[in-house]
Amino acid sequence: MALRQIALMFAGLHVLICKTWAKVEVNMEDRMKVSLNSHAEIPCIYISAEPAMTIVWSTKLPSRDQASRRIYYYDVPNEIIDEGTDYTGRISVRHTHDKSIGQGSIILTIEKVRLSDEREFICTVGNVSTEHGEGHTQLQIFNSPSLPVIVVTHSGISVSAKGPSKIADCKVDNGYPRPNITWYKDRFPLQNSDGVVKIMDSVIKNPSGLFTVESELFIKVVRDDEDAQFYCEVNYFVPEGVKMTESIPINITVYYPTTEVTLSANLDNLLLKEGDTVEIRCKGNGNPQPLFTFKHKEEVLRSENDLLILENLKRSDSGTYECQTFDLYTSQEAHGSISIKVHYLDPVVVTPEEMVLDQGGDLTLTCNALSSLPVFTAWYKDGMWVWDRHVLTLHNASYDTAGMYVCELTVSVIPELQKQKSVQIHVRGKPNIKGIAVGLVNTVDRSVNLTCYAQGYPIPNMSWDLSDQHTGQSVPILNVEDHETTSGVVSMITVNATSELIANCNASNEFGTTSVSRNIEAFARGTTTTTNAPSTKASGITVSPKKRQKGGSGVVIAVVIICLLLLAILGGVLYFLYKKGRLPCGRSGKQDFTKEKASKDDIIMEMKSGKSEEAVLLQGVNGDQKTPTEQCDED
Ligand SMILES: *[C@@H]1O[C@H](CO)[C@@H](O)[C@H](O)[C@H]1NC(C)=O
Ligand SMILES: *[C@@H]1O[C@H](CO)[C@@H](O)[C@H](O)[C@H]1NC(C)=O
Ligand SMILES: *[C@@H]1O[C@H](CO)[C@@H](O)[C@H](O)[C@H]1NC(C)=O
Ligand SMILES: *[C@@H]1O[C@H](CO)[C@@H](O)[C@H](O)[C@H]1NC(C)=O
Repeated sequence: MALRQIALMFAGLHVLICKTWAKVEVNMEDRMKVSLNSHAEIPCIYISAEPAMTIVWSTKLPSRDQASRRIYYYDVPNEIIDEGTDYTGRISVRHTHDKSIGQGSIILTIEKVRLSDEREFICTVGNVSTEHGEGHTQLQIFNSPSLPVIVVTHSGISVSAKGPSKIADCKVDNGYPRPNITWYKDRFPLQNSDGVVKIMDSVIKNPSGLFTVESELFIKVVRDDEDAQFYCEVNYFVPEGVKMTESIPINITVYYPTTEVTLSANLDNLLLKEGDTVEIRCKGNGNPQPLFTFKHKEEVLRSENDLLILENLKRSDSGTYECQTFDLYTSQEAHGSISIKVHYLDPVVVTPEEMVLDQGGDLTLTCNALSSLPVFTAWYKDGMWVWDRHVLTLHNASYDTAGMYVCELTVSVIPELQKQKSVQIHVRGKPNIKGIAVGLVNTVDRSVNLTCYAQGYPIPNMSWDLSDQHTGQSVPILNVEDHETTSGVVSMITVNATSELIANCNASNEFGTTSVSRNIEAFARGTTTTTNAPSTKASGITVSPKKRQKGGSGVVIAVVIICLLLLAILGGVLYFLYKKGRLPCGRSGKQDFTKEKASKDDIIMEMKSGKSEEAVLLQGVNGDQKTPTEQCDED
């Protein structure tokens, strides 16, 4: 007590002495802020007409009861830097005096400022008249901390955890003064809040005197936190004020149980059909995904956890698929289901499957198949469309009615689901020969192919007689080839066309025999030839004229040109007559043999309901659509 009173008394005395000395006016900054390791220059300005005679720099540590300690002394002309202080060897003093303004300036420079330099610096100036003045400056030291380092808790955090769970750490090193850490969630600062947010800061003062601050963030996580961004912000003082840095943002893994299950199939709005593959995926609304089990008709299916792949689907795979989940963490269960429908089209059944008809007879063909969806029907005969209902009726059968009928069924909304079935229709009767066609002459060996097409069922047996027109002797046949078609047979022979011949084609079956004969012109070597006109009643055959030129004879050329002109005029006249409908039109023999078009007289189809316009349309498609380019020959 006594000691303290004495100290106070001395202090009062000191103030009194200072007051009496305070003749020299000294001006100093109250505070100076400098960065660690920089130079500090502390100015001390005094007012005096004459330069100062004595200058003393001393320092005083912050604590109140610390005495000041001299570090520098100047007494004209001697300058002493005190030995054995913190500043020995680190300081220098510049002193200037400007007589014109009566002002002197003393600057104390401290090299490489240390944290321990955070203290008061006192400048005492004495003049010639041994009057004194004093000023002081408090030095403040700053050091910017390192960038904040954030470390997230990697394991997922369950929403069902009791109380806040640690989600991240934030650390800054070597700040001075002590930096502050603030936590943010989506740009909103977090504060301690009971049971929801807990922030635990720890401050370590390093041996160097700098601060390391670490902050731990605990929160009671909710589902939405999985989308939240967390980061820490560091505020620290710098000489110029306050600065701020932010850590990188982090996301946390939130665990929450699956309460709902959704199933999806990779259908892209497509309908499933038998043979397809479908993938059914089950998804829980929890995290992490639970264990999945798939069931169909009470049967557990093998799946790749959340993915069920059903390959080569069958109609029996239609139905409801159930997905059941079991959450390992919460033991919660959830269910979901999806229904799929596998569409199908069964094999096509056409009745009757094969049929032998009498000429003039009627026949009804029915085409059906079981399908899960509406189908549309198309009937084709020998590759050509004929009808679009499932019942096809053939009236007044003729040979042209015979052929291969195909019924094609297509599921309207799944065009890939298409099936067909063909039936062979025979029309029974005595053979009908359409004619003998003469092919082009082979100029090398002067052989020519003769073709004879006979309709009829049972398929007729074909035979040929070939004789010389003049001698009546039979001529050898080089080669015979018979091809059965859907409604008859085509027989082709190869003969040498070296003399005028009579060709006789015979077709016979159990109903009788039909013969047709035709004169075949000789093809002399080296002359221009054309085929002769068909000579048989039955034929309606055209063979394209063959023109050849040899030797370049002018006369021949002229004759050919005149012939061509005549042919052109004749063609024009025939075409005109044809257009006027005066000329009955036959069909190209070659085409007939290969394509057997049904003529509208030969095949008549009717819908069961009997709509006349459709019947007309059918005839239009089936019947001969004659074009001007088709060649017409009069029988
Ligand atoms: C740090 O926090 C303390 C107390 O809230 C405050 O006084 C100080 O100014 C803060 N520092 C910075 C750099 O913001
Ligand atoms: C059946 O067809 C033949 C020739 O193809 C014809 O002469 C006859 O008039 C037709 N009969 C009926 C009932 O249409
Ligand atoms: C006649 O038919 C045979 C066999 O089909 C063929 O090889 C030959 O080229 C034909 N001859 C002519 C002149 O077309
Ligand atoms: C057709 O020919 C075969 C053998 O070539 C013969 O067995 C059959 O009896 C013949 N049919 C007729 C109707 O001539």
